Amino acid sequence: MRKKVIAGNWKMNNDLYGTINLISDLKKELNEKNVEADVIICPPFTSLETASTLLKDSTIKLGAQNMYLEESGAFTGEVSVSMLKSVGCEYVILGHSERRTIFSEGDQVINKKIKTAIKFGLKPIFCIGETLEEREKGITFKVVETQVQNGLKDLSESDLSNLIIAYEPVWAIGTGRNATPQQAQEVHQFIRGLISKLYSPNFARQLVIQYGGSVKADNAKELLSQPDIDGALVGGACLNADSFAKIINASLR
Ligand code: 13P
Repeated sequence: MRKKVIAGNWKMNNDLYGTINLISDLKKELNEKNVEADVIICPPFTSLETASTLLKDSTIKLGAQNMYLEESGAFTGEVSVSMLKSVGCEYVILGHSERRTIFSEGDQVINKKIKTAIKFGLKPIFCIGETLEEREKGITFKVVETQVQNGLKDLSESDLSNLIIAYEPVWAIGTGRNATPQQAQEVHQFIRGLISKLYSPNFARQLVIQYGGSVKADNAKELLSQPDIDGALVGGACLNADSFAKIINASLR
């Protein structure tokens, strides 16, 4: 019922030349006619306009990795929602754990960013997830619940019609240590139940919840076959066209 959504978060990798090469390789690897999943790539800001041009004849969609919460003004070094829209972005990753930890973004900031993105019709990929310490303390559900409640504060079901949630346990990001399919499914099921309580069962049923954290070609199939895992947010493995294409193909039923 829910279409799988596979997104590649390039993080701070690939200059313009690397972007041109990776997109060209990806278009060769993917037999797009047979791809039933939605595929999104999120290159760095400096590559977005070129990526958008290169993807004109493709079904691959474009997303950014971040944006500022204000619409315009004196915010040196920041990038606004309308700037992203104007270079062809359809999605934006918000609340990534690297933004939360390295750049001290809290739930309130993330909430404001989600609101700004929605106001301009940019689709948020809203990231949540617990640290290893929080998992070991047994408070994973509590942490995820707080992140969802605060991140989506004052947003209605209709505001969130294009929302994607990405569950990314922090201890699994870039570590090569993915959550087991059972561990991931347990949290995804919890998130869907929470959304059902906060909004409605119907809304929860159609919400796409991606898993992220060391998704690779060889573990993607098992993760993506879990009932509440609707896609993947891929870091390291999306930087190689062959491995990203294998993950996309693993999402096919
Ligand atoms: P890795 O796939 O490299 O673990 O990164 C996951 C991630 O942070 C995607 O946003």
